[in-house]
Amino acid sequence: MNKPVRVTITGAAGQIGYQLAFRIASGQMLGKEQPIILQLLEITPALTALKGVVMELEDCAFPTLSNVIATDDLNTAFKNSDYGLLVGAMPRGPGMERKDLLEANAKIFMQQGKAINDHADKNIHVLVVGNPANTNALIASSNAPNINPENFTAMTRLDHNRAKAYISKKIGVTSNDILKMTIWGNHSATQYPDIDHVLCDGKPILGKVSQEWLESDFIPTIQQRGAEIIKARGASSAASAASAAIDHMYNWINGTPEDDWVSMGVPSDGSYDIAPGIIYSFPVRCNQGKYKIVQDLKLSEFSKNRMQITEQELREERRAIEELI
Ligand code: NAD
Ligand code: LMR
Repeated sequence: MNKPVRVTITGAAGQIGYQLAFRIASGQMLGKEQPIILQLLEITPALTALKGVVMELEDCAFPTLSNVIATDDLNTAFKNSDYGLLVGAMPRGPGMERKDLLEANAKIFMQQGKAINDHADKNIHVLVVGNPANTNALIASSNAPNINPENFTAMTRLDHNRAKAYISKKIGVTSNDILKMTIWGNHSATQYPDIDHVLCDGKPILGKVSQEWLESDFIPTIQQRGAEIIKARGASSAASAASAAIDHMYNWINGTPEDDWVSMGVPSDGSYDIAPGIIYSFPVRCNQGKYKIVQDLKLSEFSKNRMQITEQELREERRAIEELI
């Protein structure tokens, strides 16, 4: 067994946190050889519920779980942390857009950014799940000047997985057969799920579906999937969100298969004319805890236009929280 690493989960007694804690503790994120110290953060009124989560974690007797720290103190939660999953935040309800949560949630990520800066391991890998995820990741990163901004990422993996699943169902294959899906931009209704580079059985799928279907069905379905789930469940996606968070961290740490890539919200470096200063979802390849934006993809005019619309929204979100960064 290796030396234990510290994994912080914020909002650990919430819907997503309740899934994540067990999956991480059982080794699904870091592997069966990696002992873990879980550092679970909740707000004070949720500490009793969190105590229940800790009891259940103990009762699982996971061989990979070395210790659990449950706390409402930010600095304790991030002390020497190697991996941070920033989930704790208000979810949206019916009729809301994710950016409507900015006012309620932005301060959380400012405070957590500061705590990460002052207490976490300098190489901490951070995934922001709490919405609006891209801009919250920007806020956290801006408040952690001593941590490499590349270590702050936002989750668009759920959209990536949804897009793979939806297209595979349409053409009658399994989602495993679908490679090189891309989500561009914001985890919001302006995101652009792009199938132009998708391969199935090594062949482009572009000819297998019509542009009409893409524009009137595929793209809006993926953009609105979160809202549809809220309508159906009366609560936002949780198990699929936790699963996507595990996928995101797993690939970031362990790498992506050579013939594929994944979508991650990462600081724009100017690739594809997306100006720096925002956290934008790009296709990336990962290797040993680092990622690189996939370069030189040929973009249609349709794609460029969609990519600019979602970039524009991220710039507007940034303007709304300028005083926090
Ligand atoms: P939830 O309400 O069930 O759980 C949130 C938990 O966070 C609660 O237990 C709450 O007490 C806690 N919390 C609130 N403020 C906190 C703080 N300052 N510090 C620590 N904990 C705090 O919500 P959920 O369904 O688990 O969703 C959590 C967030 O994830 C929401 O913002 C939701 O919109 C978002 N989300 C994102 C994606 C994505 O793909 N990026 C997918 C699903 C949900
Ligand atoms: C999702 O995509 O399911 C989450 O971001 C929750 C939401 O508000 O849609």
